Amino acid sequence: MGAHSRAWCSVMTAAGALGAAGLAAIMIMAGGIYDIGASKPHFAVTYWLLDFAKRRSIETQSFMIRAPRLDDPDMITLGAAHYLGGCRQCHGAPGAPRNPIASSMLPQPADLVRVAPTWTSPQLFWIVRNGLKYTGMPAWPDVTREDEVWALVAFLRALPTMSREQYARLSAGGLAPPQRSGREIAEFGAEAEALSRCGRCHDPPAPGAASALVPRLAGQSRAYLELALRDYAEGRRASGVMRPVVAELDNESIAILARYYGELPPMRGAAMPEDAGVKRGRTIAERGDLETGAPPCLACHGATSAATFPRLDGQSARYLESQLRFLKAGQRMGSIQSKIMTVIAARLSDEQIDSVTRYFASVQPPAKPAPSAHHAKGR
Ligand code: HEC
Ligand code: HEC
Ligand code: HEC
Repeated sequence: MGAHSRAWCSVMTAAGALGAAGLAAIMIMAGGIYDIGASKPHFAVTYWLLDFAKRRSIETQSFMIRAPRLDDPDMITLGAAHYLGGCRQCHGAPGAPRNPIASSMLPQPADLVRVAPTWTSPQLFWIVRNGLKYTGMPAWPDVTREDEVWALVAFLRALPTMSREQYARLSAGGLAPPQRSGREIAEFGAEAEALSRCGRCHDPPAPGAASALVPRLAGQSRAYLELALRDYAEGRRASGVMRPVVAELDNESIAILARYYGELPPMRGAAMPEDAGVKRGRTIAERGDLETGAPPCLACHGATSAATFPRLDGQSARYLESQLRFLKAGQRMGSIQSKIMTVIAARLSDEQIDSVTRYFASVQPPAKPAPSAHHAKGR
């Protein structure tokens, strides 16, 4: 027997062994012998293999991602508020353990207070944006909104050192549900975690619980508010934070909420000194920019403009800036209205965006005499 045929023989033996193993695996699967139930844990070797593959995949896939600054209170607050409605039910939170339904998943959703520090920020970003196949960990509902995913990562970074009280304040904004009677709990439940509690994000009463990344609603017209909510509901406007919220609302609730917020007197922004940038912003707002062809903003965003066009005064500069960047990048153009604004945003330089948004943030909206609108009215 020559060296050549000996080598050939061992190749054939190895191929045969592999083939037999493959055939056995197929028979186990096709025969339904493998127990896929979640009630029994994995074999140690299966668990090790799956965990190894998961870690390697996350490490490789997140290799090129660079994290922005994450010690940002506005991002942490928005992250906490979404966490309460979008993650807590599976992962638990300080002072709020998991429901046994979630702890009966296989694999179990981890306690993130303990586990988040074992991942880098780009790895957390990748996990939260993409989810994890075959585990039940969902992807971010709008994968184009990476800025929202970073807000969750900022929150996960802060979570391990967050007290119960801090978490409760940031996620629920200091709004405790009213005391319910036994009958009310019996009939409607004790649940206080509804995603659609608008106030905890949009006008939280607790000091320091408002995020500048969340727009003010009081002062907007009912027509614009209703349009915006429907745009989220019907997928014309992307947001992994707002779309799950509106999914809890039917058309009637949307109309009721638009009326309620539309009747509230406008909230006042923070007072701001009128520096050179703000002055340049005022010029763009009032006269536009002939060179780039940007029209005067106040032609459409002034007190007498169409009711379906949003008001900008008193809104935070950060919110306005983030929206102008999406508009400029063509990421908010699902509706006819937003297409108009996309063309205009494309004519603004980064510097102009900076000054015009700081200008609008510095303008105090006129105190609209609300038609006897109190928080209790409008529903
Ligand atoms: C439907 C339940 C569910 C929801 C909702 C959910 N997760 Fe998960 N999550 C899981 C499961 C299951 C895993 C996988 C655990 C494993 O592989 O061991 C996981 C894994 C993770 C991990 C990796 C942790 C690790 O080391 O295992 C992170 C980080 C995470 N989730 C963050 C989040 C965030 C942030 C949200 C909200 C935006 C969220 N999850 C929403 C179920 C959920
Ligand atoms: C978890 C926090 C959170 C909750 C709860 C929440 N929102 Fe929002 N809302 C946001 C954020 C963040 C945005 C900005 C989203 C974007 O970038 O498009 C937003 C945007 C909006 C807008 C668009 C405003 C504009 O100027 O274009 C409306 C209208 C709105 N929300 C209404 C509501 C209503 C009504 C509820 C309750 C049913 C609610 N939101 C609950 C965080 C929240
Ligand atoms: C021709 C009318 C028009 C002009 C001029 C205009 N806008 Fe707009 N703008 C709109 C409309 C309409 C929307 C609402 C888009 C939507 O419904 O999604 C909008 C939305 C916006 C938003 C998002 C507001 C929010 O609450 O989410 C910002 C920020 C904005 N415009 C800034 C500007 C600036 C700055 C200028 C001046 C350079 C300007 N706009 C000029 C029509 C206009």
